[in-house]
Amino acid sequence: MTHKFDVVVIGAGAAGLFCAGVAGQQGLKVLLVDHSEKVAEKIRISGGGRCNFTNRDATPAQFLSENPHFCRSALSRYTPQDFIELLQRYGIPFHEKHKGQLFCDRSAEDVINLLLAECAAGQVTRWQPCSIKSIAGPEQTGTSGYQIESDRGLIEAPQVVIATGGLSIPKIGATDFGYRLARQFGLRLVEPRPALVPLTFDGDNWAPYAQLAGLALPVLIETSAPDASPKQRKKATVFSEDLLFTHRGLSGPAVLQTSSFWREDQPIRVNLAPGLDLAATLLRAKASSKKLIANELASLVPSRLADAWVSQDPALQRPICDATDKALLALAQRLADWQLTPNGSEGYRKAEVTVGGVDTRDLSSQTMESKQPGLYFIGEVVDVTGWLGGYNFQWAWASGFACAHAL
Ligand code: FDA
Repeated sequence: MTHKFDVVVIGAGAAGLFCAGVAGQQGLKVLLVDHSEKVAEKIRISGGGRCNFTNRDATPAQFLSENPHFCRSALSRYTPQDFIELLQRYGIPFHEKHKGQLFCDRSAEDVINLLLAECAAGQVTRWQPCSIKSIAGPEQTGTSGYQIESDRGLIEAPQVVIATGGLSIPKIGATDFGYRLARQFGLRLVEPRPALVPLTFDGDNWAPYAQLAGLALPVLIETSAPDASPKQRKKATVFSEDLLFTHRGLSGPAVLQTSSFWREDQPIRVNLAPGLDLAATLLRAKASSKKLIANELASLVPSRLADAWVSQDPALQRPICDATDKALLALAQRLADWQLTPNGSEGYRKAEVTVGGVDTRDLSSQTMESKQPGLYFIGEVVDVTGWLGGYNFQWAWASGFACAHAL
């Protein structure tokens, strides 16, 4: 038996659920398919279980893409305020945590239940778990639509929406399905790489800092190519966030943000004492204090950090009044512009998102339809990646909405 629908949405994550619900409520007969038993596993674990579902201040400037303008249209047609109003209609309590980031008061389940209720209101049929074996386009079927072979039988639909997300966290169902399908239909891909991910360092180089595991502090952080000119460096995105030392490297919001911009062999630069003129402060202390340098420094930065930096240089293991100006200036410089080159990242196992994906040159920014008529891509599978802070869900809602209105 062949199952006929107006549209098949593959992937019941944030983008797929939202798009299916909106399309169904427009009167379309929608099938939503996912190979996982549960819906929206990423929403469930997001934001520490409270789902940072949008960012009040989201603009296209907080998204990475080979074409930074691509996201503009969808983001302007479905805004953070639109999603906030939807939450309010369902009476879901939420709060702002930091820099416009909105979280559920109770649990991410509130957002999942909202999306399921929206799908129910649109009479969306949901098949889970259901594996897709193959998709044939009109060119192969000789009909006007798509034929999808699934483990629940053959499906026919004139329109197919791919919402299978990126590669991060394979153990909860991430696959390269969307990328493979894009290639099958001759669409281009921007090489995917893990992002919003902790960065790691070579064991020997990291040894002096491994003892700092668990230490968190506010920093300024950026990354640019090793041979970047001062002008190019000026263009680098600088984040003012918390950094976390780990046994293998660096994490925390500061590093997660920077990881999305980081490329192999590229150094990162960290100001560990933002807002302080360390050189002037240390030279002033030299003139009036007999304390050890480590103790003076501990009044400016966390004491574990002060100890780790001072212990690397015998010229600094003395009272500050006995130190040379040169040694103090070098210490200030090393703290205010700590340069280090990661040897990699924790990879898709720990990454929150994937940068890259279906090349936006082959998609319409108005509708998310690809150059292959009737085939749409939404959410993280597309080469649009948000910063940390609710932007990725906002992209899922906005791209899903734009697509649903074009079906
Ligand atoms: P998503 O990954 O949500 O959904 C894809 C769906 O497709 C899944 O249900 C999957 O099972 C299914 N699928 C995959 N392959 C398939 C196949 N072959 N056949 C059928 N189905 C298939 N963002 C944010 O804005 N705020 C936050 O707080 C967080 N927090 C966060 C924490 C963690 C730990 C992670 C890993 C990620 C986040 N994110 C986030 C990012 C956010 O979760 C992500 O960008 C969105 O979920 C992307 O939505 P999509 O619907 O595109 O993909």
